[in-house]
Amino acid sequence: MTDTELGNDIPVLTIDGPSGSGKGSVTQLVAGRLGWHILDSGALYRLTALAAERAQVSFDDGPSLAGIARNLSIEFLPSSPGEPVKVLLEGEDVTEAIRRETTGNNASKVAVLEEVRAALLQRQRDFRQAPGLVADGRDMGTVVFPDAPYKVFMIASAQARAERRHAQLKAQGEDVRIATLLREIEARDARDMGRKAAPLKAAEDAVTIDTTDLSIELVLEKVLSLID
Ligand code: C5P
Repeated sequence: MTDTELGNDIPVLTIDGPSGSGKGSVTQLVAGRLGWHILDSGALYRLTALAAERAQVSFDDGPSLAGIARNLSIEFLPSSPGEPVKVLLEGEDVTEAIRRETTGNNASKVAVLEEVRAALLQRQRDFRQAPGLVADGRDMGTVVFPDAPYKVFMIASAQARAERRHAQLKAQGEDVRIATLLREIEARDARDMGRKAAPLKAAEDAVTIDTTDLSIELVLEKVLSLID
């Protein structure tokens, strides 16, 4: 098959990094500016964790979890600007449920498993549609779209990420202490970076942006300048 038939001539911007580094917001803004599609790969791991929890499947049962990941019936519905994309699991709106802190932590447990990652690989590549894709995750530039022409790796201090997450959860009506979030972020970082399968790391050809002291507008400008 040629690159065109494979869709490899469709541009992809990969944005990888730890949770709270600002990837999600920047992905939405950049995709809005460019008119490109979005892949929120974290949502796929969150949906797998949520579906597993509901089916009472243990988070270390690789074969069952891979089956769940492969057969997830999901829809991402476009939203109005500034609103999160609506996510449906088996037709049910789970937008809020997948954003909960516990679902994020469970997602990082199922994401450790090679079978689960393999089950989600092609699903993620199918998001590569014209005119382009902004792919947000941990291994977008290293594993899922290694040939992407544009790659960003976003980082920020754990303290800054805990504070951002606190504000986000508060807006959702969840009040979790910053110290607790900091501990969870550090545990999740260790799990994401230390795992054997597709660990969180910058692709060799990625541009690293430290967002600790940058406004979202500045980060957006930096990312767009790579594409211009
Ligand atoms: O980005 P988000 O916080 O929604 O991701 C939830 C979890 O899913 C992460 O902590 C990580 O363990 C996992 N994940 C992953 N690979 C991706 C995206 C997310 O392992 N590409």
